[in-house]
Amino acid sequence: MQSSQGSTLPARPTAPAVQAHELTKTYPGDVTALSGMSLTVEAGTVFGLLGPNGAGKSTTVKILTTLARPDSGTAVVAGHDALSHPDRVRRAIGVVSQKSGADPMATGRENLQLQGRLYGLRGAELNRRVDELLERFDLAGAGKRQVKGYSGGMQRRLDVALGLVHRPEVLFLDEPTTGLDPEARTAMWDEIARLAGDEGLTILLTTHYLEEADRLAERIAIVDRGRVVVEGTPDALKGELRGDAVHLELRAPTQDTGPLEAALAGLPGVHEVLIDGRRISVRAEDGASAVPALLATLERAGAAVAAATVARPSLDDVYLRYAGRRFSEAEAAHDAPHAEFATAGGAR
Ligand SMILES: Nc1ncnc2c1ncn2[C@@H]1O[C@H](COP(=O)(O)OP(=O)(O)OP(=O)(O)O)[C@@H](O)[C@H]1O
Ligand SMILES: [Mg+2]
Repeated sequence: MQSSQGSTLPARPTAPAVQAHELTKTYPGDVTALSGMSLTVEAGTVFGLLGPNGAGKSTTVKILTTLARPDSGTAVVAGHDALSHPDRVRRAIGVVSQKSGADPMATGRENLQLQGRLYGLRGAELNRRVDELLERFDLAGAGKRQVKGYSGGMQRRLDVALGLVHRPEVLFLDEPTTGLDPEARTAMWDEIARLAGDEGLTILLTTHYLEEADRLAERIAIVDRGRVVVEGTPDALKGELRGDAVHLELRAPTQDTGPLEAALAGLPGVHEVLIDGRRISVRAEDGASAVPALLATLERAGAAVAAATVARPSLDDVYLRYAGRRFSEAEAAHDAPHAEFATAGGAR
């Protein structure tokens, strides 16, 4: 606490809504899920935890929402210690898990009513809240239908509604749009943006869609192998990458990458050359003007080029730079159960 010598007390800075410090977690079988996960989410903001399959996003959410305990580290959520006062944290938060928690055999309305009762709502107040949420999530017409007949988008909207029944301060959304078609995804994005804007909710969402993080989150932490590799606003992260990203694809993988890397990196205006099999990524001060020299150098080295693209830095490039591998490769490396990681639409 700050003390004040003056006559007026300075406005007390709002405490962060979520603070995780050096969380570690190893699952049986020696699977390291978290290896020093630290993050801070300021109250009233949307924070995106972006990472490939197996990065540790859900484990982080489980610990912060008191559903799992870390091996070490601390977590404070909505002003309460998640390890010593999990009950207090639970009252202050809403959770939308990666897998739906709704009862498929019950109707949407029944699911919401049950959830409300769990949080102590009764009678007219409960009915009012349920009606309000059905309306708000465009489920008023479907409220009397069993959830098993809902579309993926409807089910996910119900999941979010379930997380909001007791008006939490902090909402955790674990992959809110994975598996949704583009239309349902866009609708969910609008809804999340509205929750954050109109209702001032603090939202921590996890995603493996670069575009989603770019669009919704004021701050992003890129996670890889159980820890944050870089954190900042989407623009600041992209701004750190000078110039353009040039991606070249070779017709065949090169064997002798060292000399080739050196030759490419020696070209004027070219830096950060990364060769990985058939793919070459280069950062260039001016991508378009660097391409001819890059192609000529490759030709001299006997490496035939199949394709070349020039792009402004994207979050994928940020990921590549900090994690040392491409997002999609990290997903594949984990033997992705849903190999639909997308930069679709270009996360620029
Ligand atoms: N209950 C568990 N038992 C054993 N290993 C687990 C368990 N839960 C997660 N893991 C492992 O811990 C690591 C992190 O998993 P986690 O679910 O936190 O990742 P994630 O970032 O949420 O991935 P995804 O994008 O696939 O949801 C992975 O290697 C995973 O296989
Ligand atoms: Mg997960």
